[in-house]
Amino acid sequence: MSSQDELKQQAAARAVEMIESGMVVGLGSGSTAKFAVQQIAARIKSGELENIVGIPSSIQTENLARDLEIPLVSFEQKQQIDVTIDGADEVDPDLNLIKGGGGALLREKVVAQASRRNIIIVDDSKISPRLGTNWAVPIEVIDFARQVEEKFLKSLGASVIIRSAADGSSFRTDQNNLILDADFGQITDLEKLAARLEGRAGVVEHGLFLGMARDVIVAAADGIRHLSRED
Ligand code: A5P
Repeated sequence: MSSQDELKQQAAARAVEMIESGMVVGLGSGSTAKFAVQQIAARIKSGELENIVGIPSSIQTENLARDLEIPLVSFEQKQQIDVTIDGADEVDPDLNLIKGGGGALLREKVVAQASRRNIIIVDDSKISPRLGTNWAVPIEVIDFARQVEEKFLKSLGASVIIRSAADGSSFRTDQNNLILDADFGQITDLEKLAARLEGRAGVVEHGLFLGMARDVIVAAADGIRHLSRED
């Protein structure tokens, strides 16, 4: 396992310690959240955690959780999640996030908004002085609006790339939408940008997760830091 994967695994382990029997758990997406899902499954199997149900934030995570025999429910059965553990692409000092590197931002945001507590797990490469320093903002758009939303994002000063899948075709989200990766550089007014994106009819969701993470567990070579934001 690479040293970065070891850090991801350590951050996941610290977060999974915060899960208690009887909880409804939001299952994040991506390579870091995958370690958390595996560890939750192991704790269920060993009997350390009982009566856990999971709500996955992507089809990929749903498949993984099924393979690992984590009992799953949908929002049809439970509308309140106790705790969600998920990864992030970039984390600022106020614990605002860019998410969606894996394309699961829409379901991840739905799951985050339905959660009492959101715990984000990252290795220290994700920590940044300001969002936009290292990562473009993933923006999920409907096919019909692709060109006009691209033009709109460029008018805000972003350079925009339409995300491709490994085979060169357009990347498709779980909702069969497209992703525009909009590089704004360092973003000075996150709330303003989020509001402008939310005002666009063709934008289904964007990857700015503002004020949602209560805890961020950061694993680095010299140890683990637990950053918290009180509500
Ligand atoms: C999935 O769409 C994302 O929001 C992930 O949570 C994020 O990209 C972090 O992924 P990694 O843990 O793989 O870096």
